[in-house]
Amino acid sequence: MSVNRRLAVITGASSGIGEVYARRLAAMGLDLLITARREEKLRRLKMELEDECGISVKVVVADLSRNEDISKLVDIINNINNIYYLVNNAGYTILGNFHDVEIQRYREMMKVHMDAPTEFTHTVLPQMMKRDEGVIINVASVAGLTTKSRFSLYGSTKTYIVHFSKFIRKMLNETNIIVQALCPGFTYSGFHKTEEFLIHNADTYNTIPKFLWLRAEDVVDSSLKKLSRKRVVHVPSLRYRVILRLVNLGILKF
Ligand SMILES: NC(=O)c1ccc[n+]([C@@H]2O[C@H](COP(=O)([O-])OP(=O)(O)OC[C@H]3O[C@@H](n4cnc5c(N)ncnc54)[C@H](OP(=O)(O)O)[C@@H]3O)[C@@H](O)[C@H]2O)c1
Repeated sequence: MSVNRRLAVITGASSGIGEVYARRLAAMGLDLLITARREEKLRRLKMELEDECGISVKVVVADLSRNEDISKLVDIINNINNIYYLVNNAGYTILGNFHDVEIQRYREMMKVHMDAPTEFTHTVLPQMMKRDEGVIINVASVAGLTTKSRFSLYGSTKTYIVHFSKFIRKMLNETNIIVQALCPGFTYSGFHKTEEFLIHNADTYNTIPKFLWLRAEDVVDSSLKKLSRKRVVHVPSLRYRVILRLVNLGILKF
């Protein structure tokens, strides 16, 4: 890995939105540290991006629902001093009634959506503050922006990361560090194809109207275009900004 080149850490880079961030940041000439559980997908992406973009990619296999894997990644990040981008993107949802789902499964989701981004942000901030430069992108969801959402605990964890992002940005007010809480709506990716959706026979691609679907490429391009010191929360697509307003006014159900 080059000493001088800037580096981006991206969690959940094995598919969907995280994979697109990896492609876009590699094309911008950044070295990458990509992480997720599926090693084969990460290794394939590494080979492709190193070949196409002439950058270096480090692969770290980690399950962010496990404390030991979060700590392993914290140790690795602590030993890299050229981190300019941190993209906390790994995530998934749990379907079903809140009280019917084993609490351990929620504990795991809270680790992936809350503990891991909090710890990684805590780890990279000192070097970003020292340089007075850096970008932290926390991938939340529109479900984190409304208390009217049906996506109970998923939405609650995403609300945490939105608030956390706002708090961090406020703390960094005197600095040039950019913090974004990205809040997409339904996006084509691996998210709606996990085992969870198969078990629950949840065919969102066919039940959610087509006009509500976003492309992961558009979501990431919008995120990178709208990085700003002033605005933390970014909802990619006008459609969802309007929908959110209507949901929060109680005019529309989400
Ligand atoms: N797609 C949507 O409709 C939508 C809408 C709003 C927000 N989001 C958010 O967008 C983010 C990215 O999701 P996506 O839509 O791109 O879905 P995706 O294609 O399923 O990607 C999710 C990524 O998270 C990783 N991940 C999941 N559980 C993990 C764990 N325990 N440890 C480490 N990595 C884990 C997955 O990798 P491995 O399986 O290889 O571990 C994968 O790389 C998530 O935070 C999601 O909540 C998605």
